[in-house]
Amino acid sequence: MLNRILDMGEEQIVLDLGLVTEAEPENIGFPQQKETSGDSRLDDAVSANTLVELEEAIIRDGGCERCGLAEKRNKIVVGQGDPNASIVFIGEGPGGDEDRIGLPFVGRAGKLLDRILKAMGLSRERGVYICNIVKCRPPGNRDPLPEEAEACIPYLLRQLELIKPDVICCLGRVAAQNLLGTNAPLRKLRGKTHIFKGIPVLVTYHPAYLLRNPAGKPPTWEDMKELLRIAGLPIPEKYNK
Ligand code: URA
Repeated sequence: MLNRILDMGEEQIVLDLGLVTEAEPENIGFPQQKETSGDSRLDDAVSANTLVELEEAIIRDGGCERCGLAEKRNKIVVGQGDPNASIVFIGEGPGGDEDRIGLPFVGRAGKLLDRILKAMGLSRERGVYICNIVKCRPPGNRDPLPEEAEACIPYLLRQLELIKPDVICCLGRVAAQNLLGTNAPLRKLRGKTHIFKGIPVLVTYHPAYLLRNPAGKPPTWEDMKELLRIAGLPIPEKYNK
């Protein structure tokens, strides 16, 4: 799903799971230039040296308009957390609360995610970064369309390149399918360690699902312990059973 040629009008860039390929040097002897997309916001974003620079590139001048989600969004929700995070959590896209506030997972599902992080001995300030497949709210909280995910994925890839987490956790089917480029159902994706660009990826239930289905909480906690294990972080004593 991520391995696509993006048609940028006259220019084309190849996204090899998100990495802009190096241009063939046209003249041997000249320094090799990184191919540009013709979209200065995208170019600046994918070459940002910090998360702050990346966010600035995405939101400047009225904000990114690479897909139709720009039309109805209120705020762009780039991400939040520790720039040196060991674990990056990826959701599908901002909901109504996130769109209003500009931060990921701030509604009821987000409050549950914060409780899970606390039980792990972590927080948005310490060890964790939270973001989404798409940075703008899909109207009516529908799943992001493939072209919306594709337009936004270079930003997520740069976030991952800058943070270099030890492990990624996809929250729910939509995040997992888009990141891993598969149509497999969640039950097939959960309980395995996938690899994305050399980084281990676990898939767990979306916290909004857990609010409706509390029976999913114990298996989710098993996933969280596995995340901690992969990241080389301790499982807090009182939960280490
Ligand atoms: N659900 C998501 O997938 N992401 C958010 O940021 C909020 C709710």
